[in-house]
Amino acid sequence: MCLRSWLYVSLVSWLCVTISEGNQDFAVNVNSDGTYNVVIQGDVWLKSAPTFFRADGQVFSSADGSLKLVKNTQSSGEDVIGQWEANNFLYQAGSSQIEASFVQYTPDPSIFTYNNPSLPFMLFKQRYINGANNTASNSSAFTISGFPGFLIQESTIPLGYLSYAGLMSGSLGLMAGGWGPSSFKINDGIEGGPLALFDRVKTANTLIISPASRFMSSSIWRQNSSTGGDNVYWGTMGGVENVPLGVETSFVLFYGNQGINKAFVSWGQILQRWHGRTDQYTKSDFTINYLGYWMDNGAYYYYRTEKGKNDQDTVLDLKTYMGQIGVPVRYIQYDEWWYYWDNDHGVVTWTAQPKIFPNGMEWLYNKTQYPVVAHSMYWSSNTTYAKANGGEYDFLIDGHKALPLEERFWNDLLAESRDWGLFVYEQDYLNEEFEQIRKLLSDIDLGRQWLTQMGNAAAKNGLTIQYCMSYPRHMLQSLEIPVVTQARVSHDNRPNTDNWKIGVTSLFSWSLGVAPFKDNFWTTSVQPGNGYNSTEPHTSLNAVVATLSTGPVGISDMVGGMNRTLIMKSVNTDGLILKPSRPATSIDNRIRRMAWPDFEGPDGEVWSTYSDFGGKNKYGIVLAADLQGSYTMTPCMAGFQGFPTSMVFPANNPNKIQPLTDPQPLTMSGCTMTDFCLFYVSPVLTINGKQVLIQGELDKWVPMSPQRVTNINIADDITISLSGGVHETVSFWFNVDGESSPVTCTLGAAGLATLSFTSGTCRGT
Ligand SMILES: *[C@@H]1O[C@H](CO)[C@@H](O)[C@H](O)[C@H]1NC(C)=O
Ligand SMILES: *[C@@H]1O[C@H](CO)[C@@H](O)[C@H](O)[C@H]1NC(C)=O
Ligand SMILES: *[C@@H]1O[C@H](CO)[C@@H](O)[C@H](O)[C@H]1NC(C)=O
Ligand SMILES: *[C@@H]1O[C@H](CO)[C@@H](O)[C@H](O)[C@H]1NC(C)=O
Ligand SMILES: *[C@@H]1O[C@H](CO)[C@@H](O)[C@H](O)[C@H]1NC(C)=O
Ligand SMILES: *[C@@H]1O[C@H](CO)[C@@H](O)[C@H](O)[C@H]1NC(C)=O
Ligand SMILES: *[C@@H]1O[C@H](CO)[C@@H](O)[C@H](O)[C@H]1NC(C)=O
Repeated sequence: MCLRSWLYVSLVSWLCVTISEGNQDFAVNVNSDGTYNVVIQGDVWLKSAPTFFRADGQVFSSADGSLKLVKNTQSSGEDVIGQWEANNFLYQAGSSQIEASFVQYTPDPSIFTYNNPSLPFMLFKQRYINGANNTASNSSAFTISGFPGFLIQESTIPLGYLSYAGLMSGSLGLMAGGWGPSSFKINDGIEGGPLALFDRVKTANTLIISPASRFMSSSIWRQNSSTGGDNVYWGTMGGVENVPLGVETSFVLFYGNQGINKAFVSWGQILQRWHGRTDQYTKSDFTINYLGYWMDNGAYYYYRTEKGKNDQDTVLDLKTYMGQIGVPVRYIQYDEWWYYWDNDHGVVTWTAQPKIFPNGMEWLYNKTQYPVVAHSMYWSSNTTYAKANGGEYDFLIDGHKALPLEERFWNDLLAESRDWGLFVYEQDYLNEEFEQIRKLLSDIDLGRQWLTQMGNAAAKNGLTIQYCMSYPRHMLQSLEIPVVTQARVSHDNRPNTDNWKIGVTSLFSWSLGVAPFKDNFWTTSVQPGNGYNSTEPHTSLNAVVATLSTGPVGISDMVGGMNRTLIMKSVNTDGLILKPSRPATSIDNRIRRMAWPDFEGPDGEVWSTYSDFGGKNKYGIVLAADLQGSYTMTPCMAGFQGFPTSMVFPANNPNKIQPLTDPQPLTMSGCTMTDFCLFYVSPVLTINGKQVLIQGELDKWVPMSPQRVTNINIADDITISLSGGVHETVSFWFNVDGESSPVTCTLGAAGLATLSFTSGTCRGT
């Protein structure tokens, strides 16, 4: 044991994982006066800020003694997450009694993908025993309660932070930097989201703090000297006017000792278990599995048709064109131009305008047979569905906008829409609806009611939902709404912009079980007559990013402007997306480099992902783009811990194999946006005395996709089961003792084949 820990210490400097020494890794030490601190591997990371609650129009704080401690009790129990032990502090805040509890959980190990040896985590719970009145703060950026809260001080060891915030799943207000009073800057309040802290030296310890329930009404608040001192608090959002009796709100402190990526995934797995979110809807969503055609911002046909034609004829021409050149698009998206809207673009009636689709949606669906993803916005104060305007349903009207109050409305709307092929309801402008209907900011339950009514109705009608312009709170709310299968994770696509940089937000989205969507992309650079007066120089980069995202792959070219060769690198002949097992995300050292510009991480995008066929059958993918200089990466820095001994080769040269081990890392350089670097990693096999790498289908972005390769059997021979389109040809590569060559397979009438490596043959069925 002594020898082992000595050994680990000496390895830590060049391995990227520190080894857990057990439960002392992470502790929240609580004193009898209710103060606390967070200790990680013996270092104090955080010290508590004064606990406070607003009630009766005042702030009651432990700083000035106005918050009175009534009693301290202990309790314990067990729930879906595991066993817990609680230390409860009952406080009197004016006429309100509020209990602040530290609940330490020992989670059930079956929750985790990664072998987190049951590291405990802490829940901070606020329970309003008799409710509270007149709680609102003067700013919705603040919180009406502060527990947990921490002093923002220089720490004894260097800590960095990553804060998700703002539109598009926390991507547009994302901040990273060093932890400390002058450097800790976040977008807090309504825009705020999860916060991660990580160390610089040991490089594996990560602490994530976020709401664990009541996501729509919980906020993070970065207090500063002008508002009372350098503290960061979590609590109910600042606009909430009263808290009903019995309300419980909780925040999680999750510690992981295997780096930032793995900590987020494990944190998300706990929250998913808690709220009963399963991945069945995301896995089976048609639009996440098949190639689509998109008509939103950035697309050629966004508010634009073919010359002299309407949208209906343009859609029909697209269908004919794709049929002629053999592009297997399987569904279509209609954006904000298809329905009736008001002066403010609020939805008046969610049906097709005759000047857009003169024969109606059902006629068009019958004609194209394309399932539909249909865009929707906030509702107009003039919406024809509202009782106030002669409609049938209760709406709350505020200014130019309206909020549906009945699940019946959503049910009826979505049931009708099935007739014209609706598969996915795309809810855009989630931020504006939330911030401009004032009651959503002052009521503790209304935000959750709005989104769960929409979700319940979608589930009832067999539909799924895409979120767009979501803040982190909307994303977190999807933990309770598993039909939210996909979300936009970067700004709108415009040709030649960096909308493809989704590596960091994809991590947040995926942790919650929501597939990240990069938005539409062009497959040909020059498309005359487009509405952007622009060209897209990075068609391939956009295509590979979309495919590696595991979210929708949506092309958006003009009639006559598609590059079929490029498109087919993402899909099989049925249009099924050949994607990896999880989204590509930025490696941990990329995130550290964002926090510390002088950190030895990559100065640019380096992402990794893999396909996992079980056991040792793990195939890695590394993408590097817009990378300044060079970067050298071990397999564990890529997140490939637990992979078998492997070799790596560039996508464009399967003969150029080299080992990828901790002492023999991969050096990447010259990785631009046009000439990005793409590497594949395969386990080293020995078959009949020869060194063999399964390299897979090298004319696809993901040569070893579980959507193509359905089984791998390795014994004296390697037999591989393939699936795809009827009579599709698959060119499948192996490297034997350094030489690469393909076996050509023709799938049978059932779209299946079995390939034998030793005989170099393939049998289609
Ligand atoms: C809040 O106000 C309601 C209605 O006036 C009252 O019944 C309740 O006792 C108040 N609660 C507290 C904690 O003051
Ligand atoms: C302090 O916080 C307030 C409220 O969030 C904000 O408006 C102000 O700009 C902040 N001041 C500084 C110096 O950051
Ligand atoms: C809002 O409240 C905070 C503390 O609760 C106070 O410091 C600040 O001055 C107030 N701001 C305004 C504009 O009233
Ligand atoms: C709603 O309709 C009224 C009457 O036609 C119009 O004056 C108003 O501008 C409309 N509201 C919006 C937000 O378009
Ligand atoms: C669409 O097809 C369905 C099923 O064949 C049929 O019942 C319906 O009348 C058609 N609708 C239109 C508008 O053509
Ligand atoms: C389009 O872009 C070109 C080159 O950037 C520029 O010269 C031209 O003025 C632009 N045209 C319009 C209509 O914006
Ligand atoms: C189409 O894409 C392929 C694969 O990326 C590329 O080699 C080819 O040059 C592209 N063709 C055109 C016309 O852009």
